[in-house]
Order: sequence, then C-alpha cells, then structure tokens
Amino acid sequence: MSTRSALRAPRPTETAKDFAADVIDGLTAKPKYLRPKYFYDLTGSGLFDRITTLPEYYPTRSELGLLTKHAPEIASLFPQASALVEFGSGSSRKARILLRAAASVEAYVPVDISAQFLGGEAAKLERDIPRVAIYPVATDFTKPFELPAAVRGRPCVGFFPGSTIGNFEPHEATDLLRLAAQILGPDALFIIGADLVKDRNVLHAAYNDAAGVTAKFNLNLLARINRELGADFNLGAFEHHACYNQERSRIEVYLASRKRQKVRLLGKTFEFRAGETIHTENSYKFTLKSFSALARGAGWAPVAVYTDADHYFSVNVLKQK
Ligand code: TRP
Repeated sequence: MSTRSALRAPRPTETAKDFAADVIDGLTAKPKYLRPKYFYDLTGSGLFDRITTLPEYYPTRSELGLLTKHAPEIASLFPQASALVEFGSGSSRKARILLRAAASVEAYVPVDISAQFLGGEAAKLERDIPRVAIYPVATDFTKPFELPAAVRGRPCVGFFPGSTIGNFEPHEATDLLRLAAQILGPDALFIIGADLVKDRNVLHAAYNDAAGVTAKFNLNLLARINRELGADFNLGAFEHHACYNQERSRIEVYLASRKRQKVRLLGKTFEFRAGETIHTENSYKFTLKSFSALARGAGWAPVAVYTDADHYFSVNVLKQK
C-alpha cells in the first residue's frame, strides 16, 4: 500500500433510517416507486458488474472501447498534478484506463455509495497503479460533499461514466452537473458518458437480458429491503419489467406484482393490486445535441465528444464555462 494514501474503510453516510424513510415514502406514493441508488448494496453492486459483461448490455463495452481508443487524447487535456474524481466509481474499471494513460494524474478519488465495494476495489487499484494516491469517499454523490483534504488545491478532472447521468430526471441532472462544478472547482474538466438514442430493440434487449441478471438486479432491491428492514416481500410474486418510452427517450424499469398481495414492513402494511408496479429506475437516452444542451444549461462547455461507429454511446469532455 502506498504511504501517501488515506486508504482505510470508508464510512457510509447512508443510514438505515434514511433507507427506511425513503422506502416507506416510495411504497406509500401513488404510483409506487423506489430510489435507484438503493440498488447498490454489496450484492447489487456485484450484480451490476455482471450486467456490464452481458452480451445485450452494450453501454459498458461501447464506453470502454471509446475510452481505450481516445485515452491518450483525453489524457493530454489533463492539467499537471491533477486529481481524478469519479462519481459512482463501482469497480473503477474505466478509471484505470484514464489513470494509466494520464501521467499527469497523481490522485484518484473514487466516490461511491457502496462503502464495502469501494474499499475492496480501491485497494486493488492502489496495488496496480502505485503512482496514484487513492482517497475513497463513501457517500451519496447527489448531495454536497467535500473532497479529501489531501486533494484540495489540486486541479480536478471529474469522471462520470456509465450514463448514470441518464438515471436522473432532467432537472436533477442539471442540479447534479452544477453541484459537480462546485465540488471540482473553477477550470475543472468533466468527462461524462452519455448513452444515445437508438433502435428500440437494441435498447429493450439491454434491459431485458436473456440470462435474467437484470431481473435479479432489480429484484435484489426487494431482497435488500427484506434483509435490512425486515420486510416480507415474496420475491417470486414480483417480476422485472423494462420498456422504452420513445416520447420521453427513456428506458423505464419496474417491479410488477404478479398478484394481489400484502407486504409487511416496519409495522406497516402495503397493498398491491395484481399487475401493480413499483417504478425503480429511468435511464434517459440522449442525442449529441440534447446532451450538449444539458451540459451548457448547467454551466459546462463541451470541449470534445467521442462516439463509436454505431453511434451507440458518447464520451463527452466538458470544461467549466
Ligand atoms: N446506469 C445504468 C443504466 O441506466 C443502470 C442500469 C443498467 C439499470 N441496467 C439496469 C438500472 C436495470 C436498473 C435496472 O444503463
């Protein structure tokens, strides 16, 4: 382990109380919903990693291809002695590509809501790229947070791959880009992956894989509520649904009740009609134009954009206006 880094078990900021309150709010609402950030406990983060290797799930492959191909060019834009700050780092697989290509980066700050996952992955990265000091931050990056003291004063490059930006409502996405500008500081660069509008069958398959891993990932949310909040969701009585809403350019993900049923949670009873859904996620798809409009509206100017030959995915380099 490098002596420069502050690599210790990060403390989660997400409390069981927040989780319980959010779940009760979501299941009381009409229509019912659950917040997608709760997908990513240790089991969910592992399942999501499996999603990224599925033949139908093109975004990860497309983005990895773009990053690999253009890493030298992207890295040439990084300021000297900079810090790479990743929002929702997961396995840090994509950051590795940039960290290897950019000798100017001396610090890496993976920010992720899954503290356990974060610790393990950060330790591996530290062994593999000893040149870079690693300062993991376990937090919900949609809320204001401070960069670790050790990287304050360094020029920052934000990194937000995976089209996670598409999992927010447009107004939330704008807020998040503004918040990132504040956290990263003036003159920061920001590298963001955005999934593109395309043939609906390709989109549909990406969220309805044949092996059923996406269904398992979606249902893990209910399993997590059972595990952590003592609910009695019968997982066999719910099913995964994902469809493309063309008017709104988004994939919508639901858990649908297979029958009329009641679920007990923290002394409350929640009733489900047969076919009633819990909305668990949206994944907005962009055009190059709609993404650059979003960025500009949040104070970021597009510097470069890279897309693959199929126009499946885009990697956008932005600079603060
Ligand atoms: N950011 C990913 C996406 O929108 C998350 C994701 C992939 C996802 N597959 C999912 C979320 C299935 C919920 C259900 O592509």
